[in-house]
Amino acid sequence: MIRADRLITDCRLATMLEGGEAYGAVEDGAILIRDGDIAWVGARADLPAHEAAQVDRLDGRWVTPGLIDCHTHLVFGGDRSGEFEQRLGGATYEEIARAGGGIVSSVRMTREASEDDLVASALKRLAGLKASGVTTVEIKSGYGLDRDSELKMLRAARRVGAEGGVRVATSYLGLHAVPPEFREDRAAYVDLAVDEILPAAHAEGLVDAVDAYCEPIAFSTDEVGRLFEKAKSLGLPVKLHADQLSNGGGAALAARYGALSADHIEYADEAGIAAMAKAGVVAVLLPGAFLMLREETPPPIQTLRGHGVSMAVATDCNPGTSPVASMLAAMTLACVQFRLTPEEVLAGATRHAAKALGMADRIGTLETGKAADLAVWDINRPAELCYWLGAPLLYGRYRNGQPD
Ligand code: NIG
Ligand code: FE
Repeated sequence: MIRADRLITDCRLATMLEGGEAYGAVEDGAILIRDGDIAWVGARADLPAHEAAQVDRLDGRWVTPGLIDCHTHLVFGGDRSGEFEQRLGGATYEEIARAGGGIVSSVRMTREASEDDLVASALKRLAGLKASGVTTVEIKSGYGLDRDSELKMLRAARRVGAEGGVRVATSYLGLHAVPPEFREDRAAYVDLAVDEILPAAHAEGLVDAVDAYCEPIAFSTDEVGRLFEKAKSLGLPVKLHADQLSNGGGAALAARYGALSADHIEYADEAGIAAMAKAGVVAVLLPGAFLMLREETPPPIQTLRGHGVSMAVATDCNPGTSPVASMLAAMTLACVQFRLTPEEVLAGATRHAAKALGMADRIGTLETGKAADLAVWDINRPAELCYWLGAPLLYGRYRNGQPD
């Protein structure tokens, strides 16, 4: 006899479990929830003996795992719509960055913002993500680039989780850009990030993973290697913005350090991808940035498939390259621009995204023992999640078994 807090029934399930039906689908399903976790999930016909304090009937709606946005820069000050206009006028992202705009202009605005300001503006963007079925969000620092401002961003990110009702995983992205005050001495900034800011943030419990931007306009593989060594010594997992605008050996570097994920990877080569496969590194694909930068070289999807690399999809929500605050929009873009199948994309927004955050034991599939983080959809087929662009498909969400 299962004593449950809640029975969810009269629904179709996309469990996203591997190896069986497409989408791990169960046509007439049920879920028992106890203490915020899935106590049982399967076909209604197989429901074990149970008592449920509450019964939710979903009139045949589809239930998926709550979506996981595993790569965002949700916390930042101001916006960069002016640079968007410049790019529409012909300027490139690199030109703007080298002229002192780009990430550095968000750094200026983020330093000026209070922690409360940062939380308030991030919560607005979070509302867009939640309306698209998201229950877990990764949030990076990287627009502070001094000790106090990086800590301010990471504290704001933790508060976004607590006040916004989502699970949040934080990443310290100190090596995102060289801040203006270190332009003449980048080595000193790397020292500061590695030896002082990361340990301080970690000591406050603000860091779930360590990220970096490996690119000619950002940081070299040697500089990132120094940071990753430090992360390793602190017992923190790493991930990397790799090979987005050029092939700089980022995918191979991520593999060398057993990273959770290598993200973007438009320009990764086959050797890098083979190394990722061997090391179990997830490829996080970011079609919002690809769209907004009018990129023309998509990530090497066939090579990733061929090597069996897990592919996640995320919004990369940020003020520069991807002002995208809808997970469903990112999913549609991944299908249309990268030719992923809707099933690959939904796995990328659930099971593989959980792996990219090192959280696969808790979230990402509908499975007994995992958190009851669910999204309920007004659709007839799971592929509709990728098919509609901008339609309000979400009926409701559960987080830790609670509707909200
Ligand atoms: O993921 N590539 C580096 N970071 C962001 C862009 C940040 C920005 O332009 O503000 C990205 O695309
Ligand atoms: Fe990013």
